[in-house]
Amino acid sequence: MRPRVICHMVASVDGRIATSGWPLTDAARKHYEQVHASYDPDGWICGRVTMEPFAKQLRSEGEVARKHTGSAPRADFVAPGEHQSFAFAIDASGRLAWDSNDIDGDHVVAILSERVSDDYLGFLRERGVSYLLAGVRDVDLSLALDKIGAQFEVRTLMLEGGGRINGGMLRAGLIDEVSVLIAPVADGRIDTPALFDVDGDDVAPRLLALQAVERRADDMLWLRYSVAGNGT
Ligand SMILES: NC(=O)c1ccc[n+]([C@@H]2O[C@H](COP(=O)([O-])OP(=O)(O)OC[C@H]3O[C@@H](n4cnc5c(N)ncnc54)[C@H](OP(=O)(O)O)[C@@H]3O)[C@@H](O)[C@H]2O)c1
Repeated sequence: MRPRVICHMVASVDGRIATSGWPLTDAARKHYEQVHASYDPDGWICGRVTMEPFAKQLRSEGEVARKHTGSAPRADFVAPGEHQSFAFAIDASGRLAWDSNDIDGDHVVAILSERVSDDYLGFLRERGVSYLLAGVRDVDLSLALDKIGAQFEVRTLMLEGGGRINGGMLRAGLIDEVSVLIAPVADGRIDTPALFDVDGDDVAPRLLALQAVERRADDMLWLRYSVAGNGT
């Protein structure tokens, strides 16, 4: 049921991913979207921090603090309309105040925990933003992927950062392939996000199997790996 998940990112040679300030040409930056399109995906998925500029607004701390207290199950919501491709936002506590249900033609779907209030669910319905409830306190990433496959018939899904959501998906064994474009940049900024960031000490580094290497224009290098032990 769950889609094939390709973690697709652009990284500096030192594995950092905050691209602002990188001395890259527009042509070099375009490789990311070109490689994305080459997978012909049904959708893409990002963590709450990466999605903030797309949502444009955040709810106040007071609004986010109003949690759901009931125990009766609540239904997922699929907004009316013909949706061909999807942008999934992992937003456990409902911080994103979407001003639109569309990102460049992709329908926005919020992936939430059961903590979010009925008011917030009503706000999303009113904006035409679809939502899936997956997990009690935190987002259950495996359940979220099952629902994405079942509700929206997504078969190929691009996981596109940032580092913490990539790290969570890697730790949960939910990544099938890593597609990384190495940009000709040595970043060096300590305490900036990396390709995979995992909180805590129980991090188990994963072995990857190199599948393909492509030298591209603009000194970009495209590496593709399968994730050992995930059946690919
Ligand atoms: N180079 C690239 O290709 C690329 C692509 C995308 C992003 N980026 C960069 O990545 C940076 C952001 O990365 P980030 O690591 O700070 O944030 P992120 O991965 O975008 O978002 C992390 C947030 O996702 C939410 N989340 C919900 N469930 C989670 C789970 N199970 N595991 C992990 N997170 C979960 C949490 O939000 P709550 O705190 O609300 O619970 C968490 O704080 C930005 O600088 C962005 O520009 C780079």
